[in-house]
Amino acid sequence: MLNAIGHTPLVQLTRLVEPEAAEVWIKLEGANPTGSYKDRMALAMIEGAERAGRLKPGQTVVEYTGGSTGSSLAFVCAARGYPLRIVTSDAFAREKLATMVAFGAHVEVIHSPEGITPELVPRMMRRAAEIVTEVGGYATDQFNNADMIDGYRGLGREILEQLDGRVDAFCSYIGTAGCFLGVGRELHRALPDVLRVGVEPAESAVLSGGAAGTHHIEGGGPGFRPPLLRDDDIDEVMTVPEAEAFAMARSAARDLGVFSWPSTGANLVAARRLAARLGHGKRIVTVAVDSGLKYLAGDLYSEAS
Ligand SMILES: Cc1ncc(COP(=O)(O)O)c(C=O)c1O
Repeated sequence: MLNAIGHTPLVQLTRLVEPEAAEVWIKLEGANPTGSYKDRMALAMIEGAERAGRLKPGQTVVEYTGGSTGSSLAFVCAARGYPLRIVTSDAFAREKLATMVAFGAHVEVIHSPEGITPELVPRMMRRAAEIVTEVGGYATDQFNNADMIDGYRGLGREILEQLDGRVDAFCSYIGTAGCFLGVGRELHRALPDVLRVGVEPAESAVLSGGAAGTHHIEGGGPGFRPPLLRDDDIDEVMTVPEAEAFAMARSAARDLGVFSWPSTGANLVAARRLAARLGHGKRIVTVAVDSGLKYLAGDLYSEAS
């Protein structure tokens, strides 16, 4: 099952942009086994810990997660035989909570009806640390785990192979920054002039120097700078208002057939802006983070929206 991770399709979105704009290509990461690029980093975190002897056979793995990492870790732990304890919240899609349970994880839910507040992720982190002590577990601690960046290097290499080494810019919505860093560093190694654009919610524009705030673009905008993100990893930050990210996710499904979530909507908003700015002859790559099937129980695609 773990060999099914990666090698996802990359397609060009010709109708997203004007004819005089740059090309936009999107990596369809919903094709991974749990429907998200997080499968790549979950495997990298477990294999990295196994290799270094930090994770013992049968030891309990512990993580705080918005649900995508948890679903992927639950999948990898099921395939590898590790018990898993998860701390998450009802601010995130309930399909993800159900997925973790389906793969056999023990899931603890922190109530946060307001959405993703600046206090939520730190609270989840504190509870996960308590569980690690209680059960003698192994903390994958995604925000501080350098192994997870390696999980996305393959994504960067696939992009280079699929586009014959020609990429001018890469943009991606930032949560832990794992995808942005793994892909960005791999592209930068091959193409030192590539433009690496990080994307964040306008309502919590911390990387742009703004204040942390509440928003609903699940997957990123945690309200603090991800610790693994260095200044020389990022050339530019773009902010996208959540209303624009949600509208783009809906229109991407209806008009382009790209079925995902507003983190991908934010990626597409940023890619379209970059395409207009860089112009004809340039090539921009972004990522469809996950499958829209993870979000059907919420409001995103409901008839009322
Ligand atoms: C739906 C979604 N979008 C975007 C991201 C951001 O990815 P990363 O943590 O690699 O920055 C995540 C991460 O959890 C996510 O779940």
